[in-house]
Amino acid sequence: MGIFEDRESAVRSYCRTWPKVFDRAAGSWLYDEEGGAYLDFFTGASALNYGHNNPALKRALLDYLEADRVIHSLDMHTVAKREFLTTFDQLILQPRQLDYRVQFPGPGGANAVEAALKLARKVTGRTEVISFTGAFHGMTLGALAVTGSKFHRGGAGVPLPHAISVPYGCDLRGPDQGSPGIQRLLTDNGSRLDEMAAVIVETVQGEGGINVASLEWLSDLAQLCERHGIVLIVDDVQMGCGRTGPFFSFEAAGIKPDIVCLSKSISGYGLPLALTLIRPDLDIWKPGEHNGTFRGFNPAFVTGTAALRVYWQDEELEHATLAKGQRIAAALAALAGSVPGTRMLSRGRGLAHGLAFEDGELSRKVSFAAFERGLLVETAGSTDEVIKLLPPLTISDTEVEQGLALLADAVQTVC
Ligand SMILES: Cc1ncc(COP(=O)(O)O)c(C=O)c1O
Repeated sequence: MGIFEDRESAVRSYCRTWPKVFDRAAGSWLYDEEGGAYLDFFTGASALNYGHNNPALKRALLDYLEADRVIHSLDMHTVAKREFLTTFDQLILQPRQLDYRVQFPGPGGANAVEAALKLARKVTGRTEVISFTGAFHGMTLGALAVTGSKFHRGGAGVPLPHAISVPYGCDLRGPDQGSPGIQRLLTDNGSRLDEMAAVIVETVQGEGGINVASLEWLSDLAQLCERHGIVLIVDDVQMGCGRTGPFFSFEAAGIKPDIVCLSKSISGYGLPLALTLIRPDLDIWKPGEHNGTFRGFNPAFVTGTAALRVYWQDEELEHATLAKGQRIAAALAALAGSVPGTRMLSRGRGLAHGLAFEDGELSRKVSFAAFERGLLVETAGSTDEVIKLLPPLTISDTEVEQGLALLADAVQTVC
Protein backbone atom coordinates (compact mmCIF):
# COMPACT_ATOMS: atom_id res chain seq x y z
CA MET A 1 0.00 0.00 0.00
CA GLY A 2 2.98 2.35 0.68
CA ILE A 3 3.31 3.57 -2.90
CA PHE A 4 -0.25 4.92 -2.85
CA GLU A 5 0.39 6.87 0.33
CA ASP A 6 3.82 8.05 -0.79
CA ARG A 7 3.11 8.94 -4.38
CA GLU A 8 -0.61 9.35 -5.00
CA SER A 9 -2.26 12.69 -4.33
CA ALA A 10 -4.06 13.32 -1.07
CA VAL A 11 -7.21 13.82 -3.15
CA ARG A 12 -7.79 10.06 -3.44
CA SER A 13 -10.99 9.03 -1.67
CA TYR A 14 -12.71 5.70 -2.42
CA CYS A 15 -9.48 3.86 -1.59
CA ARG A 16 -9.74 5.30 1.92
CA THR A 17 -13.26 3.89 2.30
CA TRP A 18 -12.23 0.48 1.00
CA PRO A 19 -8.56 0.05 1.98
CA LYS A 20 -7.72 -2.99 -0.16
CA VAL A 21 -5.81 -3.44 -3.41
CA PHE A 22 -8.31 -4.72 -5.96
CA ASP A 23 -7.21 -6.87 -8.82
CA ARG A 24 -9.79 -8.99 -10.62
CA ALA A 25 -13.46 -8.45 -11.28
CA ALA A 26 -16.27 -10.44 -12.86
CA GLY A 27 -20.01 -9.83 -12.99
CA SER A 28 -21.20 -8.46 -9.66
CA TRP A 29 -17.92 -9.21 -7.89
CA LEU A 30 -14.61 -7.50 -7.21
CA TYR A 31 -11.62 -9.41 -5.79
CA ASP A 32 -8.70 -7.97 -3.87
CA GLU A 33 -5.14 -9.16 -4.43
CA GLU A 34 -5.40 -11.52 -1.47
CA GLY A 35 -8.44 -13.17 -3.02
CA GLY A 36 -11.06 -11.49 -0.83
CA ALA A 37 -14.42 -11.29 -2.65
CA TYR A 38 -16.69 -8.23 -2.56
CA LEU A 39 -20.22 -8.05 -3.87
CA ASP A 40 -20.31 -4.76 -5.73
CA PHE A 41 -23.36 -2.63 -4.92
CA PHE A 42 -21.40 0.45 -6.01
CA THR A 43 -20.52 -0.40 -9.65
CA GLY A 44 -18.28 2.62 -10.21
CA ALA A 45 -21.17 4.91 -9.23
CA SER A 46 -23.26 3.35 -12.00
CA ALA A 47 -20.47 3.13 -14.59
CA LEU A 48 -20.79 -0.67 -14.66
CA ASN A 49 -24.51 -1.28 -15.14
CA TYR A 50 -23.78 -4.52 -17.03
CA GLY A 51 -21.33 -5.78 -14.42
CA HIS A 52 -17.55 -6.16 -14.48
CA ASN A 53 -15.91 -7.64 -17.58
CA ASN A 54 -19.24 -8.58 -19.11
CA PRO A 55 -18.33 -11.53 -21.41
CA ALA A 56 -20.30 -10.35 -24.47
CA LEU A 57 -18.76 -6.89 -24.29
CA LYS A 58 -15.30 -8.29 -23.59
CA ARG A 59 -15.49 -10.52 -26.68
CA ALA A 60 -16.33 -7.54 -28.90
CA LEU A 61 -13.48 -5.52 -27.38
CA LEU A 62 -10.91 -8.31 -27.71
CA ASP A 63 -11.87 -8.94 -31.35
CA TYR A 64 -11.50 -5.24 -32.08
CA LEU A 65 -8.09 -5.00 -30.40
CA GLU A 66 -6.81 -8.21 -31.96
CA ALA A 67 -7.57 -6.93 -35.46
CA ASP A 68 -5.56 -3.69 -34.99
CA ARG A 69 -8.60 -1.52 -35.52
CA VAL A 70 -8.39 2.22 -34.82
CA ILE A 71 -8.14 3.17 -31.14
CA HIS A 72 -7.66 6.93 -31.21
CA SER A 73 -9.13 9.16 -33.88
CA LEU A 74 -10.19 12.48 -32.32
CA ASP A 75 -13.54 13.10 -34.03
CA MET A 76 -12.70 11.53 -37.39
CA HIS A 77 -15.15 9.09 -38.91
CA THR A 78 -14.47 5.49 -37.94
CA VAL A 79 -16.34 2.26 -38.52
CA ALA A 80 -16.67 1.82 -34.74
CA LYS A 81 -18.28 5.25 -34.39
CA ARG A 82 -20.63 4.61 -37.31
CA GLU A 83 -21.78 1.34 -35.74
CA PHE A 84 -22.32 2.98 -32.38
CA LEU A 85 -24.32 5.89 -33.82
CA THR A 86 -26.40 3.61 -36.03
CA THR A 87 -27.16 1.23 -33.16
CA PHE A 88 -27.94 4.08 -30.76
CA ASP A 89 -30.25 5.60 -33.34
CA GLN A 90 -32.05 2.33 -34.12
CA LEU A 91 -32.33 0.82 -30.64
CA ILE A 92 -32.55 3.86 -28.37
CA LEU A 93 -33.64 7.06 -30.15
CA GLN A 94 -36.08 5.88 -32.82
CA PRO A 95 -38.19 3.52 -30.67
CA ARG A 96 -38.64 6.37 -28.15
CA GLN A 97 -39.39 8.94 -30.85
CA LEU A 98 -36.46 11.01 -29.69
CA ASP A 99 -34.64 13.16 -32.20
CA TYR A 100 -31.22 14.23 -30.95
CA ARG A 101 -27.90 15.14 -32.49
CA VAL A 102 -25.11 13.34 -30.66
CA GLN A 103 -22.10 15.34 -29.50
CA PHE A 104 -19.06 13.49 -28.12
CA PRO A 105 -17.77 16.13 -25.75
CA GLY A 106 -14.84 14.42 -24.03
CA PRO A 107 -14.69 11.31 -21.91
CA GLY A 108 -16.38 12.11 -18.59
CA GLY A 109 -19.75 13.17 -17.27
CA ALA A 110 -18.48 16.66 -16.47
CA ASN A 111 -17.50 17.06 -20.13
CA ALA A 112 -21.06 16.27 -21.17
CA VAL A 113 -22.38 18.83 -18.67
CA GLU A 114 -19.91 21.56 -19.72
CA ALA A 115 -20.94 21.15 -23.35
CA ALA A 116 -24.63 21.26 -22.41
CA LEU A 117 -24.27 24.45 -20.35
CA LYS A 118 -22.15 26.20 -22.97
CA LEU A 119 -24.58 25.33 -25.73
CA ALA A 120 -27.65 26.40 -23.73
CA ARG A 121 -26.01 29.79 -23.10
CA LYS A 122 -24.98 30.14 -26.73
CA VAL A 123 -28.47 29.27 -27.99
CA THR A 124 -30.35 31.60 -25.65
CA GLY A 125 -27.79 34.39 -25.40
CA ARG A 126 -28.42 34.30 -21.65
CA THR A 127 -25.97 33.43 -18.91
CA GLU A 128 -27.90 32.29 -15.82
CA VAL A 129 -28.73 28.66 -15.07
CA ILE A 130 -31.11 27.19 -12.50
CA SER A 131 -29.82 24.14 -10.65
CA PHE A 132 -31.04 22.34 -7.55
CA THR A 133 -29.96 21.80 -3.99
CA GLY A 134 -28.26 18.43 -3.66
CA ALA A 135 -27.29 18.42 -7.33
CA PHE A 136 -24.06 16.87 -8.56
CA HIS A 137 -22.86 17.60 -12.07
CA GLY A 138 -19.08 17.25 -11.92
CA MET A 139 -15.87 18.97 -10.91
CA THR A 140 -14.99 21.29 -13.81
CA LEU A 141 -15.78 24.93 -13.06
CA GLY A 142 -18.96 25.17 -15.13
CA ALA A 143 -20.32 21.88 -13.77
CA LEU A 144 -19.23 22.81 -10.25
CA ALA A 145 -21.18 26.08 -10.48
CA VAL A 146 -24.39 24.03 -10.76
CA THR A 147 -23.33 21.45 -8.14
CA GLY A 148 -24.73 21.83 -4.64
CA SER A 149 -22.05 20.38 -2.38
CA LYS A 150 -20.31 23.09 -0.33
CA PHE A 151 -17.33 20.80 0.13
CA HIS A 152 -16.76 20.38 -3.59
CA ARG A 153 -17.53 24.01 -4.40
CA GLY A 154 -14.95 25.00 -1.83
CA GLY A 155 -12.27 23.34 -3.93
CA ALA A 156 -12.85 25.74 -6.85
CA GLY A 157 -10.72 28.61 -5.55
CA VAL A 158 -12.71 31.12 -7.63
CA PRO A 159 -16.31 32.37 -7.51
CA LEU A 160 -18.79 30.10 -9.25
CA PRO A 161 -21.17 32.57 -10.88
CA HIS A 162 -24.11 32.47 -13.27
CA ALA A 163 -26.03 29.74 -11.48
CA ILE A 164 -28.81 29.89 -8.94
CA SER A 165 -29.70 26.93 -6.73
CA VAL A 166 -33.33 26.31 -5.79
CA PRO A 167 -34.76 23.53 -3.60
CA TYR A 168 -34.98 20.19 -5.39
CA GLY A 169 -38.59 19.11 -5.74
CA CYS A 170 -39.88 22.53 -4.61
CA ASP A 171 -43.33 23.69 -5.56
CA LEU A 172 -42.79 25.18 -9.01
CA ARG A 173 -45.92 27.25 -8.85
CA GLY A 174 -45.21 28.42 -5.28
CA PRO A 175 -45.50 29.63 -2.66
CA ASP A 176 -43.63 26.70 -1.12
CA GLN A 177 -43.30 26.83 2.65
CA GLY A 178 -43.11 30.59 2.53
CA SER A 179 -40.76 30.86 -0.42
CA PRO A 180 -42.08 31.69 -3.86
CA GLY A 181 -41.95 29.00 -6.54
CA ILE A 182 -39.73 29.29 -9.59
CA GLN A 183 -42.72 30.13 -11.75
CA ARG A 184 -43.39 33.29 -9.70
CA LEU A 185 -39.74 34.23 -9.55
CA LEU A 186 -39.59 34.02 -13.33
CA THR A 187 -42.58 36.27 -13.88
CA ASP A 188 -42.37 38.72 -10.97
CA ASN A 189 -41.00 42.13 -12.00
CA GLY A 190 -39.28 42.37 -8.63
CA SER A 191 -37.29 39.22 -9.24
CA ARG A 192 -33.92 38.90 -10.97
CA LEU A 193 -34.90 35.47 -12.19
CA ASP A 194 -35.96 36.54 -15.65
CA GLU A 195 -33.06 35.74 -17.87
CA MET A 196 -32.53 32.04 -17.48
CA ALA A 197 -30.60 30.12 -20.13
CA ALA A 198 -31.19 26.65 -18.73
CA VAL A 199 -32.45 24.43 -15.98
CA ILE A 200 -30.20 21.46 -15.23
CA VAL A 201 -31.75 18.60 -13.29
CA GLU A 202 -31.21 14.98 -12.27
CA THR A 203 -34.44 12.96 -12.17
CA VAL A 204 -33.01 11.09 -9.18
CA GLN A 205 -30.08 12.72 -7.43
CA GLY A 206 -27.39 10.09 -7.05
CA GLU A 207 -24.58 11.84 -5.20
CA GLY A 208 -27.21 13.96 -3.46
CA GLY A 209 -28.41 10.84 -1.62
CA ILE A 210 -30.97 9.17 -3.93
CA ASN A 211 -33.45 12.02 -3.83
CA VAL A 212 -36.26 11.02 -6.15
CA ALA A 213 -38.17 13.75 -7.99
CA SER A 214 -41.82 12.94 -8.62
CA LEU A 215 -42.77 12.32 -12.24
CA GLU A 216 -45.37 15.07 -11.98
CA TRP A 217 -42.76 17.57 -10.82
CA LEU A 218 -40.48 16.68 -13.72
CA SER A 219 -43.34 17.10 -16.13
CA ASP A 220 -44.25 20.49 -14.61
CA LEU A 221 -40.60 21.55 -14.80
CA ALA A 222 -40.45 20.63 -18.50
CA GLN A 223 -43.60 22.67 -19.17
CA LEU A 224 -42.25 25.63 -17.24
CA CYS A 225 -39.05 25.57 -19.28
CA GLU A 226 -41.01 25.42 -22.50
CA ARG A 227 -43.19 28.38 -21.47
CA HIS A 228 -40.17 30.54 -20.69
CA GLY A 229 -37.87 29.50 -23.53
CA ILE A 230 -35.47 27.92 -21.05
CA VAL A 231 -33.34 25.00 -22.22
CA LEU A 232 -34.10 21.91 -20.14
CA ILE A 233 -30.98 19.83 -19.51
CA VAL A 234 -31.45 16.42 -17.92
CA ASP A 235 -28.20 15.13 -16.49
CA ASP A 236 -28.63 11.38 -16.93
CA VAL A 237 -24.96 10.61 -16.31
CA GLN A 238 -25.68 8.44 -13.25
CA MET A 239 -29.37 7.52 -13.68
CA GLY A 240 -29.34 6.88 -17.44
CA CYS A 241 -28.49 3.65 -19.30
CA GLY A 242 -31.24 1.72 -17.52
CA ARG A 243 -30.40 2.49 -13.89
CA THR A 244 -34.01 3.44 -13.08
CA GLY A 245 -35.53 0.84 -15.45
CA PRO A 246 -36.04 2.48 -18.85
CA PHE A 247 -32.96 3.49 -20.85
CA PHE A 248 -33.43 7.18 -20.00
CA SER A 249 -34.55 8.04 -16.48
CA PHE A 250 -36.87 10.79 -17.76
CA GLU A 251 -38.97 8.44 -19.90
CA ALA A 252 -41.34 7.64 -17.04
CA ALA A 253 -42.19 11.35 -16.72
CA GLY A 254 -43.15 11.51 -20.42
CA ILE A 255 -40.83 14.46 -21.07
CA LYS A 256 -38.40 15.20 -23.89
CA PRO A 257 -35.53 17.32 -22.56
CA ASP A 258 -33.80 19.74 -24.92
CA ILE A 259 -30.37 18.42 -23.95
CA VAL A 260 -29.40 15.15 -22.25
CA CYS A 261 -26.06 14.29 -20.67
CA LEU A 262 -24.91 10.66 -20.66
CA SER A 263 -21.66 9.05 -19.57
CA LYS A 264 -20.72 6.36 -17.00
CA SER A 265 -22.47 3.22 -18.37
CA ILE A 266 -22.83 4.33 -21.99
CA SER A 267 -19.68 2.37 -22.94
CA GLY A 268 -21.02 -0.52 -20.87
CA TYR A 269 -17.55 -1.71 -19.91
CA GLY A 270 -16.24 1.06 -17.70
CA LEU A 271 -14.36 2.65 -20.61
CA PRO A 272 -14.56 6.45 -20.75
CA LEU A 273 -17.23 7.83 -23.06
CA ALA A 274 -19.72 10.69 -22.78
CA LEU A 275 -22.55 11.98 -24.94
CA THR A 276 -24.37 15.27 -25.02
CA LEU A 277 -27.66 14.75 -26.85
CA ILE A 278 -28.96 17.91 -28.46
CA ARG A 279 -32.35 18.84 -29.90
CA PRO A 280 -31.44 19.29 -33.60
CA ASP A 281 -32.43 22.97 -33.88
CA LEU A 282 -30.23 23.80 -30.87
CA ASP A 283 -27.14 22.27 -32.46
CA ILE A 284 -25.64 25.60 -33.49
CA TRP A 285 -22.03 24.78 -32.68
CA LYS A 286 -19.48 25.95 -35.22
CA PRO A 287 -17.13 23.14 -36.33
CA GLY A 288 -14.51 22.65 -33.63
CA GLU A 289 -15.95 25.36 -31.38
CA HIS A 290 -16.01 22.90 -28.48
CA ASN A 291 -13.31 20.29 -28.93
CA GLY A 292 -10.90 17.98 -27.10
CA THR A 293 -8.45 15.16 -27.77
CA PHE A 294 -10.49 12.30 -26.35
CA ARG A 295 -13.93 12.75 -27.90
CA GLY A 296 -15.08 9.30 -28.81
CA PHE A 297 -12.76 6.52 -27.74
CA ASN A 298 -13.19 3.74 -30.31
CA PRO A 299 -12.92 0.79 -27.87
CA ALA A 300 -15.72 2.47 -25.89
CA PHE A 301 -17.84 2.70 -29.05
CA VAL A 302 -17.28 -1.02 -29.59
CA THR A 303 -18.35 -2.10 -26.09
CA GLY A 304 -21.14 0.51 -26.09
CA THR A 305 -22.54 -0.90 -29.34
CA ALA A 306 -22.33 -4.45 -27.97
CA ALA A 307 -24.13 -3.40 -24.78
CA LEU A 308 -26.97 -1.81 -26.75
CA ARG A 309 -27.31 -4.90 -28.95
CA VAL A 310 -27.28 -7.34 -26.04
CA TYR A 311 -29.48 -5.45 -23.58
CA TRP A 312 -31.68 -2.96 -25.44
CA GLN A 313 -33.20 -4.93 -28.33
CA ASP A 314 -36.19 -5.67 -26.11
CA GLU A 315 -37.62 -4.77 -22.69
CA GLU A 316 -36.26 -7.72 -20.75
CA LEU A 317 -33.56 -5.78 -18.88
CA GLU A 318 -35.93 -2.92 -18.08
CA HIS A 319 -38.52 -5.30 -16.58
CA ALA A 320 -35.88 -7.24 -14.65
CA THR A 321 -34.45 -3.98 -13.25
CA LEU A 322 -37.88 -2.85 -12.05
CA ALA A 323 -38.61 -6.25 -10.49
CA LYS A 324 -35.28 -6.40 -8.64
CA GLY A 325 -35.77 -2.78 -7.61
CA GLN A 326 -39.11 -3.64 -6.04
CA ARG A 327 -37.51 -6.47 -4.10
CA ILE A 328 -34.78 -4.11 -2.81
CA ALA A 329 -37.35 -1.43 -1.95
CA ALA A 330 -39.37 -3.93 0.11
CA ALA A 331 -36.26 -5.22 1.91
CA LEU A 332 -35.03 -1.70 2.70
CA ALA A 333 -38.45 -0.64 3.98
CA ALA A 334 -38.44 -3.65 6.31
CA LEU A 335 -34.87 -2.95 7.39
CA ALA A 336 -35.69 0.72 8.04
CA GLY A 337 -38.34 -0.33 10.54
CA SER A 338 -36.33 -3.11 12.13
CA VAL A 339 -34.10 -1.28 14.62
CA PRO A 340 -35.93 0.41 17.49
CA GLY A 341 -34.43 3.79 18.29
CA THR A 342 -32.70 4.28 14.90
CA ARG A 343 -34.54 6.36 12.34
CA MET A 344 -33.97 5.18 8.78
CA LEU A 345 -35.79 6.07 5.59
CA SER A 346 -35.65 4.11 2.37
CA ARG A 347 -36.20 5.54 -1.10
CA GLY A 348 -35.32 4.90 -4.70
CA ARG A 349 -36.36 4.07 -8.23
CA GLY A 350 -35.40 1.08 -10.36
CA LEU A 351 -32.02 -0.19 -9.15
CA ALA A 352 -30.99 3.07 -7.46
CA HIS A 353 -31.82 2.92 -3.78
CA GLY A 354 -30.91 4.75 -0.63
CA LEU A 355 -31.19 4.08 3.08
CA ALA A 356 -31.05 7.44 4.84
CA PHE A 357 -29.81 7.71 8.42
CA GLU A 358 -30.06 10.71 10.68
CA ASP A 359 -26.37 11.47 10.38
CA GLY A 360 -23.31 10.54 8.40
CA GLU A 361 -21.54 8.94 11.34
CA LEU A 362 -23.94 6.00 11.42
CA SER A 363 -24.07 5.52 7.67
CA ARG A 364 -20.28 5.60 7.34
CA LYS A 365 -20.06 2.94 10.06
CA VAL A 366 -22.65 0.83 8.24
CA SER A 367 -20.75 1.21 4.95
CA PHE A 368 -17.54 0.07 6.66
CA ALA A 369 -19.29 -2.83 8.43
CA ALA A 370 -20.70 -3.89 5.04
CA PHE A 371 -17.20 -3.73 3.54
CA GLU A 372 -15.89 -5.96 6.35
CA ARG A 373 -18.61 -8.45 5.42
CA GLY A 374 -17.74 -8.35 1.70
CA LEU A 375 -20.27 -5.82 0.39
CA LEU A 376 -19.36 -2.50 -1.27
CA VAL A 377 -21.91 0.24 -0.62
CA GLU A 378 -21.12 3.94 -0.93
CA THR A 379 -22.42 6.78 1.22
CA ALA A 380 -24.04 9.84 -0.38
CA GLY A 381 -25.98 12.95 0.61
CA SER A 382 -24.91 16.33 1.96
CA THR A 383 -23.53 14.79 5.15
CA ASP A 384 -22.92 11.28 3.77
CA GLU A 385 -26.03 10.20 5.65
CA VAL A 386 -27.36 7.89 2.96
CA ILE A 387 -26.24 4.36 2.14
CA LYS A 388 -26.48 4.19 -1.63
CA LEU A 389 -27.23 0.94 -3.40
CA LEU A 390 -26.37 0.74 -7.11
CA PRO A 391 -25.96 -2.96 -7.92
CA PRO A 392 -25.28 -4.01 -11.51
CA LEU A 393 -28.49 -4.30 -13.52
CA THR A 394 -27.31 -7.78 -14.49
CA ILE A 395 -27.13 -8.96 -10.87
CA SER A 396 -28.78 -12.31 -10.15
CA ASP A 397 -31.69 -12.67 -7.70
CA THR A 398 -29.45 -14.76 -5.45
CA GLU A 399 -26.84 -12.01 -5.37
CA VAL A 400 -29.52 -9.43 -4.58
CA GLU A 401 -30.56 -11.51 -1.56
CA GLN A 402 -26.94 -12.02 -0.55
CA GLY A 403 -26.24 -8.28 -0.66
CA LEU A 404 -29.41 -7.42 1.26
CA ALA A 405 -28.54 -9.98 3.95
CA LEU A 406 -25.01 -8.54 4.31
CA LEU A 407 -26.42 -5.01 4.54
CA ALA A 408 -29.01 -6.04 7.12
CA ASP A 409 -26.30 -7.67 9.21
CA ALA A 410 -24.13 -4.54 8.98
CA VAL A 411 -27.05 -2.32 10.01
CA GLN A 412 -28.08 -4.57 12.92
CA THR A 413 -24.50 -4.72 14.19
CA VAL A 414 -23.81 -0.98 13.97
CA CYS A 415 -27.20 0.18 15.19
C1 LIG B 1 -25.33 13.17 -12.31
C2 LIG B 1 -23.87 13.31 -12.56
N1 LIG B 1 -23.44 14.21 -13.44
C3 LIG B 1 -22.13 14.37 -13.71
C4 LIG B 1 -21.18 13.61 -13.06
C5 LIG B 1 -19.73 13.82 -13.36
O1 LIG B 1 -19.22 12.75 -14.06
P1 LIG B 1 -17.64 12.54 -14.15
O2 LIG B 1 -17.19 12.20 -12.77
O3 LIG B 1 -17.46 11.42 -15.10
O4 LIG B 1 -17.06 13.81 -14.64
C6 LIG B 1 -21.58 12.65 -12.14
C7 LIG B 1 -20.60 11.82 -11.41
O5 LIG B 1 -20.89 11.12 -10.47
C8 LIG B 1 -22.96 12.49 -11.86
O6 LIG B 1 -23.41 11.60 -10.99
